[in-house]
Amino acid sequence: MNKWWNEAVIYQIYPRSFQDSNGDGEGDLKGITSRLEYVRDLGVDAIWLSPFYTSPNKDGGYDVADPRNVDPRFGTLEDAKELFDKAHSLGLRVVVDIVPNHFSTEHAWFKEAINSPKGSPARNRFHFYNGKDANTPPNNWISLFGGPSWTQIEDGQWYLHLFDSSQPDLNWKNPEVMADFEKTIRFWIELGADGFRIDVAHGLAKDDIHVDHYDPQGLSDALRLDVLMEVEKRNSYLANIPFFDRDGVHEIYKEWRKIFDSFGDRDIMAVAEVWVHPPKRATLYVRPDELHQFFNFDVMNAPFESKYLHQAISDMLGLVKMQNAWPTWCLSNHDCERVASRIGADAARAMALFIFGLPGSAYVFNGQELGLPSGEMADTDRQDPIFFRTNGRQKGRDGARVPLPWNGDKAPFGFTTGKPWLPIQDQWREFTVENEERDTNSSLNLYRKALQIRKQHLVGSGEITWTHTDGILGYKRGNIQVLINISEKTQPFTGEVLLSSHPVTNSLPPKAAVWLLS
Ligand code: NOJ
Repeated sequence: MNKWWNEAVIYQIYPRSFQDSNGDGEGDLKGITSRLEYVRDLGVDAIWLSPFYTSPNKDGGYDVADPRNVDPRFGTLEDAKELFDKAHSLGLRVVVDIVPNHFSTEHAWFKEAINSPKGSPARNRFHFYNGKDANTPPNNWISLFGGPSWTQIEDGQWYLHLFDSSQPDLNWKNPEVMADFEKTIRFWIELGADGFRIDVAHGLAKDDIHVDHYDPQGLSDALRLDVLMEVEKRNSYLANIPFFDRDGVHEIYKEWRKIFDSFGDRDIMAVAEVWVHPPKRATLYVRPDELHQFFNFDVMNAPFESKYLHQAISDMLGLVKMQNAWPTWCLSNHDCERVASRIGADAARAMALFIFGLPGSAYVFNGQELGLPSGEMADTDRQDPIFFRTNGRQKGRDGARVPLPWNGDKAPFGFTTGKPWLPIQDQWREFTVENEERDTNSSLNLYRKALQIRKQHLVGSGEITWTHTDGILGYKRGNIQVLINISEKTQPFTGEVLLSSHPVTNSLPPKAAVWLLS
């Protein structure tokens, strides 16, 4: 059956970096509301908002202290309601983030836990354990942000945090946790949310707390989107992770699905961040009684080489088919290098056309449509906990989070009247929305045209048939043929050009893509 999300284009907004409305240098909900016409005009169907909940902001809001409230830095619950309502009036659905793997140490539950005795019900909402001995944590796992996954509290017990020490992992075997998340899910749906992006969705069940890993640092690096690693090496780490993708996690999503479905024709959807290996495991999350979509980052992480891209795209298409589900595609998000920096500006434009032609939904990270590169900054400006927990060994994800340039010739380009929370480079004047709107060949105009043609010609036109799998990748879908040149040589083609990432007549330069009417 046709659902709104099957082939939607969903625009990810990182609230802190989108638009500031009060001059404090950080984006906020009112700022987003004021820019929704821009989002609609891009031609997307929905927005996904990264967290804006009450949070001490040690991990960009993915450290939630009150999941049913808005952090004052972002505004109020009324502002959220206003944003949702305006989005709906413009025909945009709203997907909000939900963060079930952990809370913040500022959450009332955690404060209660550390003030309660060992073995108490309050501690049982998290993972508190005794160490191997007085000074050694229960296992050798390394946090995904670097450093140990365990922090010791005054009475000698340790708590588990797969991420920052300010993000204690929740114990999903405790029914109180499920009950609390049910409240949160219902709360946001009642306020108007149409769906959820589930953070670290594969992490909630932990069966093997007492198992050490053979190379915890290698595994931690492999799990990070901002650390580059050879595909085979990464896959060998990801093939067996003692704390991710345990079978018990599926019981949780079966319960969640009942909650979503209880809202009937509101058609609430959930997209899970489940980067698991082998990729086939991800299909378990989209069984008919679980979630609707999953992100698998194999395409996003693939080198710009036809072999890897063809494999990753074919795998994704084949996998979802097994469950009669729909694939998702993305080229970047707030956790990785911006795609224009990772594979280069030309390849990024070409890849956008390539994935927009595919069946399923496409996620676009704010600023990607402008062709923004990762922002550069001095180490003294960095804010990502990864930078601090690795003692600067890894720079972290701030580059992807530099605020958007809207207009004018000088930073902060209309983002704020104050000092932006991360510095914006003056060279970004060429990337402002104002500038790109004027330039017919800009990345912004390419995205706008592509999304318009996608709606007219591609959405609903079924499966693809591969026509080229080496050097040039190509497929046919409906009455369109999509080609991308991943080789070093210019390649001839025939057909009527509907859209191209670069000026073409009858040959395709390297790192260019074209949509042909066939
Ligand atoms: C994945 C989120 O996308 C990332 O930004 C966050 O740091 C971790 N999960 C922990 O919540």
